Amino acid sequence: MAHISFRDVQRRFRRNGEEFIALDDVNLEVAEREFVAIVGPSGCGKTTCLRMAAGLEHPSRGSIRVGGQEVREPGPDRAVVFQAFALFPWKSVWDNVEFGLISLGVAKDERRRRIEHYIELMGLAGYERAFPHQLSGGMQQRVAIARAYVLDPQVLLMDEPFGALDAQTRVVMQEELVRLARRHPRTVLFITHAVEEAVYLADRIVVMTGRPGTIREIVDVKTVREAERWDSHPRIEDVMDQPSFVQLRTHVWKLLRESGAIH
Ligand SMILES: Nc1ncnc2c1ncn2[C@@H]1O[C@H](COP(=O)(O)OP(=O)(O)OP(=O)(O)O)[C@@H](O)[C@H]1O
Ligand SMILES: [Mg+2]
Repeated sequence: MAHISFRDVQRRFRRNGEEFIALDDVNLEVAEREFVAIVGPSGCGKTTCLRMAAGLEHPSRGSIRVGGQEVREPGPDRAVVFQAFALFPWKSVWDNVEFGLISLGVAKDERRRRIEHYIELMGLAGYERAFPHQLSGGMQQRVAIARAYVLDPQVLLMDEPFGALDAQTRVVMQEELVRLARRHPRTVLFITHAVEEAVYLADRIVVMTGRPGTIREIVDVKTVREAERWDSHPRIEDVMDQPSFVQLRTHVWKLLRESGAIH
């Protein structure tokens, strides 16, 4: 059974008093522990898809299920990481990571154990008492990721989590996310504008087109990654040099170009 499924999803919005179809015919099944990236032109409805899976918004037609249950509202089985970090500025790193655990009613000892684990894993040890404004953008994003993983959600919904980072920090974060995803495999929906990032991280890439937003093609990456043993390359730049990687990247670019994302 699919862990996340979009069935004939349509979403309409109103603009200047007129209704328009933002998303149409979205059909997608994400398997348990699968990492699916979504790419597509600005405004094609990527964030809307994620918000609906999170239960923050609802389809106008069709349905979205997570673990077989129709999504009606946000729940502890799903954690969201947004582009703009969305940390509490007045809380320390530790308190930011702890916040969701308190709302879930996790006992104090267990909270400490989990927070220490993820703070260590995300390279934030020593910064527990720092406040977000004292951290670099990359570190803030690590706090946001630790805060999501610490809840031990079955599903992670990430909306351009590395969008605000500089190119080098982004590479570090991508490598860290790959390590984290291997150690703690979860079902992930990951939105990005960066095609290379999608090919590097994802098992499959959903390529969308705009007006209205629909799925253009779903590209299988996992089969190629395993066949070509990308994982045997320790560094991201070595993976990106592989002909099989370049081929997939070019294919996704071509789809985006045809969809009008690039002129
Ligand atoms: N609450 C809303 N009310 C009206 N229109 C909305 C609302 N939310 C989104 N839209 C519209 O729906 C479309 C899809 O928006 P969405 O934010 O999902 O796009 P996106 O693919 O995430 O874009 P980007 O890549 O720029 O983040 C856009 O045309 C947007 O203006
Ligand atoms: Mg968006």
